[in-house]
Parts: sequence; structure tokens; C-alpha cells
Amino acid sequence: MMLSIGAAAVLALALPVRSGPTESTVLSSFPAPASASYDYVVVGGGTAGLTIAARLAASGSSVAVVEAGGFYETDSSTISTVPGYAFSNPVLAPVEFFPPFPLLDWELVSQAQTGAANRKVHYAAGKTLGGGSAINTMAYHRATKRTHLRWADVAGHLSYTWDNMLPFFLKSAKLTPPDWLKRATPNATFTYDPTVFCTGLPICGPLQVSYAKWVDPTNTWFSVALEAIGMAQNLLGFNSGSLSGGAYTTETISPDAIRSSSESSYLAWALQNTQLKVYNRTLASKILFTSGKATGVSVSTGGAGYALTVAKEVILSAGTFHSPQLLMVSGIGPQAKLQSLDIPVISNLPGVGQNLQDPIFFSVQSGVKTPSLASELADPARQSTIQQQYDSSDAGPLSSAGGYIAFEKLPAASRQAFSPRTASLLAGLPADVPEIEYLAGSFAGTGNGVTTVGDLSAAVLNPFSRGSVTISSASITDAPVIDMGWLTDPADAEVAVAAFKRLRQAWAAPAISSVKVGPEIRPGLAVQSDADILVWIRENAIQIWHASATNAMGTNATAGAVVDWRAKVFGVSGLRVVDASILPFALPGHPQATIYALAEKIAQSILTGS
Ligand SMILES: Cc1cc2nc3c(=O)[nH]c(=O)nc-3n(C[C@H](O)[C@H](O)[C@H](O)COP(=O)(O)OP(=O)(O)OC[C@H]3O[C@@H](n4cnc5c(N)ncnc54)[C@H](O)[C@@H]3O)c2cc1C
Ligand SMILES: *[C@@H]1O[C@H](CO)[C@@H](O)[C@H](O)[C@H]1NC(C)=O
Ligand SMILES: *[C@@H]1O[C@H](CO)[C@@H](O)[C@H](O)[C@H]1NC(C)=O
Ligand SMILES: *[C@@H]1O[C@H](CO)[C@@H](O)[C@H](O)[C@H]1NC(C)=O
Repeated sequence: MMLSIGAAAVLALALPVRSGPTESTVLSSFPAPASASYDYVVVGGGTAGLTIAARLAASGSSVAVVEAGGFYETDSSTISTVPGYAFSNPVLAPVEFFPPFPLLDWELVSQAQTGAANRKVHYAAGKTLGGGSAINTMAYHRATKRTHLRWADVAGHLSYTWDNMLPFFLKSAKLTPPDWLKRATPNATFTYDPTVFCTGLPICGPLQVSYAKWVDPTNTWFSVALEAIGMAQNLLGFNSGSLSGGAYTTETISPDAIRSSSESSYLAWALQNTQLKVYNRTLASKILFTSGKATGVSVSTGGAGYALTVAKEVILSAGTFHSPQLLMVSGIGPQAKLQSLDIPVISNLPGVGQNLQDPIFFSVQSGVKTPSLASELADPARQSTIQQQYDSSDAGPLSSAGGYIAFEKLPAASRQAFSPRTASLLAGLPADVPEIEYLAGSFAGTGNGVTTVGDLSAAVLNPFSRGSVTISSASITDAPVIDMGWLTDPADAEVAVAAFKRLRQAWAAPAISSVKVGPEIRPGLAVQSDADILVWIRENAIQIWHASATNAMGTNATAGAVVDWRAKVFGVSGLRVVDASILPFALPGHPQATIYALAEKIAQSILTGS
């Protein structure tokens, strides 16, 4: 049975999302680059930053956002706005030498990964209004109920339980029900739970969430293969606090098939309805303190430096890599590190930049004879039809960013080789937290009957390896030093090998033999023993761009916590951090839904003083 949301279509914060903020709204919002004072200054106009800035500005407070990048609609055009291009965005290249894209990306390159064949990888991070939400691949789903219980436990506050966080999920996003007519794929129907989305005025948030209006035919076969090895469709979908089985996921795509980011949603709304000021192409270099209280931020626009001071608070939302960097160059972090760079210590917090958790993923590829998003986009004969479908009806391959994913705890047969330590680490995770996510993907075909190179991936969701972010100088213009710590904990290696074998089991399912063409393409059947599989994974696994927890929330600063449950930084006043860096641990699956909700929660905490 298909559930529907009905009247939720008309909304208070409904926005013209096709083009994002207009030139005139932007220009009138850009203040002269000179010292000024606001109630709040938000550093980083990314996913969390624009959410919190919009809510604070809506309350009538004076608010400025400082963002190093510009507007992606004009800086990069269709690469970042059209969903079908999300996977071919050049910023995704996870290799040391990559095509530079300074208008969208910070161009960060990691330290050599000792657990991953000493590779250095380019780790894309959005340098644009919208931040990660402007370059991500748009999957939107929430964590599990027990993940939130674990969070409440670590944060020492019950406001993080599922029930207590649900209002902030509701407030941030508006769901458009599936368009079955445009999907036009009767073998890819599903059910979902409309009660976990906003259903009425006036609280439906500006972020647009929807189901793809085009179904990738190859994905329908991956759904069959994953079901055959134990992952039946989850009848509620992945927004109700359960992550098990498979589902077509919701995506941050507007009803007219444009990327919905924090910029096209929250910022566009705030520019029209509040006095929010946006300092775009403006770099924050330091948080300023007087007697342990944050009083403002040093910034520079086009090389000219000035200060923005605050009457109330500074909110740091520069993301997993840059928020710890900004804290450290401002005097908050591990004392010995700061002293070695002659940075005066304002708060000695050993946890700043530590605890980095970065899920990795890898795939097994085989040829298939079904078309796919990749094969359609690569076929010159299809270009004009596809473009026309998109332009005239917001549908077709360009309107979709893939979207079939599945979750599981590995079955008993896959766990037999686990060491006692690995088994016990995994047993310590909450009962409803999946260990592996599977993602259906594709590359263009190679001919000889291979229409599509089917790409089935597995992500190791709960890394026990720990990485770090640190600084090499006191200057914000030197890139942060990033070590993801990939596969340095043997438990992650064991889980990865088990997940790899599940990928091969899915490919071997008789249910998809009718569309499979030829032998496995990657890594190929020469890779067989557990030892060979692990070597291959160390050489080929990449990030899924979900790094988090580098300013972990908690209760004990000596033990590594950086912020408390209100997101206030320990040891100072007037400063909060609100972004993926304050997650206490890697969330299962994709984090953006939770980052929006977290920003809504802290905005309310600031405004109500609770
Ligand atoms: C390629 C990619 C694909 C992803 N796919 C998905 C997905 O499908 N689903 C999902 O849920 N999640 C996905 N993610 C993860 C998700 O998008 C991020 O976790 C999330 O956007 C992080 O939000 P944030 O607020 O912590 O930081 P960001 O959104 O990164 O915001 C930080 C902002 O601060 C700015 N900034 C940093 N330093 C300074 C400074 N010194 N001065 C001024 N401004 C500064 C940055 O330019 C940026 O705009 C993906 C991420 C990437 C990169
Ligand atoms: C589902 O239908 C589509 C479109 O007709 C087709 O291309 C695809 O092969 C089908 N998938 C399965 C699993 O039957
Ligand atoms: C901010 O964006 C506007 C509109 O794109 C642009 O005209 C302006 O120059 C930008 N500001 C800076 C400092 O680059
Ligand atoms: C905080 O952590 C430190 C270091 O682990 C520990 O010694 C101390 O007892 C903890 N304090 C509290 C109140 O738990």
C-alpha cells in the first residue's frame, strides 16, 4: 500500500528554489568589508551554519554569516544544482592528484594513510555557501533510535533521544511524496512512514526532501540482489529510526528537481525574510577573546582584514576539518600543540581535533545489460531527450541522484572469522545500529553487451580506527593536517573483509544472473583469499565523505569532550560549535539530516536559553 502525505504540499517557508538567491538579494545583503557588530556571528555558511543563522535571524537578532566561498549557482552552475550530475562532480576525485576546483572545494589532501597503502587522498569539503550540502550526493535519512539513546548517554542529556530530536527533524525538512507517474517503474514501488515528516503549517522547514522522479533500472536489480541475501525492503523507509533492510532513500531534491542545500533553502528564505548579513568570499582567521569570553571574529575579504564583534555569541560551523583548526589557531586545543606554535592558550582542551571517525567504502563491479544513470548520461544519442525530459517535466535521469541503499548487521555466517576482540567491539554497539551500508551505483558500460558497469559498494559504518586534525602553523591559510586513520584498527579490517564477501554474495545471487554479463570486473577473480581481499581494500577503499566527531560532544573535557550538550565549548564563554565536528561518534549512514536537526536544536537552545 502506498502512503501519502496529502495536504502538506503548501508551506510557510516554500521558496523559489530553482535558482537560489538572486543577484539583487545577495548584493543588498553583502555589507561593506569593515568592522561591524552583531548579536551573533556564525563562522561558516555551510549545512549547519546557514540553518542556525537563518533561525537566529528570524528571531529578530542581528546576525552575520562569514563564509569563505561564494554562491555555487553562479560559481559552478549545473554541476552542483542538477541532481544527475552529483556523482560526476569533479570534486569527488579521492586521489592525491586531482582536478582542482577552487570555487567549490577546499582542496584538502590527507596525510599518507598508513592503514591504506600509504595513500594520500583528496578529501572534498565544500567551500561555498551551503558547504557540504552543496556538493554532497543528496541522500537524506536519519539515524536509529538507539543511536540517539547512545548520544543522550554520551552527552549526558536526554534531549538527544529520538523522541526529543524528532521535532527538529520535522521542523527542518519538508517531504514531497513520491511522484509515481513520473517514476513510471512499477517494479520499484515502496511504502514509507509519512508521520515522521512535517504534515502541516507552519513548522515545515525550508529544506526540500523528495524521492527521485526517475528510477535507475540497474538499481532495481541491486535491490533484488540485496533482498536475495537477506535485506528485504524496509516498509517504513529510513526516516523512522530504523536502519535495516533496503529502501529507495529520500534525497535533498526540490519538487522541481534541483539540489536543495542549506543555501537554496534556509539562506534563500532568510535573505528574503530577515536582516541576515552574508560576508561571502570572506575568510575567518581567528576567534577573539576577552577574559575567556568570545567577543568576535577576525576576518578578511579580498585581503583586507577587519573584525566582526558580537554582543551575544560566536557560533563556529566551519565543519569537521576547519572547526578544530579555527579553535586551535584561536587558542583552544591541546596545550602542548598550541605552545609549540606560540599560540597563547585560552582553553586547554586535549580533545580538539582528536577522535576523528571516518567510515570507508569500496565496491565490487560486474557488467550488466540494464541501462543506468551512468549509461544514460554517457550515451550521446540520449542527450537531447534527457535534457528535454528534465527541462520540460523535471524528470528523467538528470532529476535523480541514484538512491537505493541497504543496511544490516552482518549475518552469523559472515562473523565466524572475527577475532574475539572484534566480536566484542561490535557487540558493544547498540542493537539497532547496522554495521554495513550497501549502496547501488553504476559506471558507463564498456561495450560487448555490457551496457552498464554495475557498482555495488559496502561502507563500514562504525569505524574503531581513530584519526585526527591538527595544525602546522598559527595561520588559518595553512591547510589543516588531516589523518583519517583508515583501517588502523584491526577490527575495521576484519569487518571490511566480511563486507566485501557480502558484495560478492549479492552479485552471485541467482536472482540477478539474467542481467549479469561476463566475469567480475573489479577487483576481479584473482583476488580471493582474505589476505588478498584485505590488501585490495587497503589499496582501494575511499572515504564516503562523512568524517565527524573532531570536537566531540560530551561531559568530561579532560577525557576529550570539546563541547557540552548545549554545544558550548568547555573553558570559555560565548562560543558554541555547531556542525559535524561535535557529533560524539560516527552516525550510522548519511549524516546530513541529523546535522540539520542538530542545528535547529541548538538554535532553539540559544534563543530560549535552555
Ligand atoms: C562529496 C560529499 C558527498 C556527501 N554525500 C552525502 C550524502 O549523500 N548524504 C549525507 O547525508 N551526507 C553526505 N555528505 C556529508 C554531509 O554533506 C556533511 O557531513 C555535511 O554537509 C557537513 O556539514 P557541516 O555543517 O558540518 O559542514 P559544511 O557543510 O562543510 O560547512 C562548513 C562551512 O564552513 C566554511 N568554512 C570553513 N572554514 C572557514 C573559514 N576559515 N572562514 C570562513 N568559512 C569557512 C566552508 O566553506 C563551509 O561552507 C557528503 C559530503 C561530501 C563532501
Ligand atoms: C524494472 O523495470 C525496469 C523498467 O521497465 C526495467 O528496466 C528493469 O529491468 C526492471 N527490474 C527488475 C528487477 O525487474
Ligand atoms: C558576494 O557575492 C556577490 C554576488 O555574487 C558578489 O557581487 C560579491 O562581490 C561577493 N562578495 C565578495 C566579497 O566577493
Ligand atoms: C574525566 O576524565 C578524566 C580522564 O579520563 C578522569 O581522570 C576523571 O576522573 C574524569 N572526571 C569525571 C568527573 O568523571
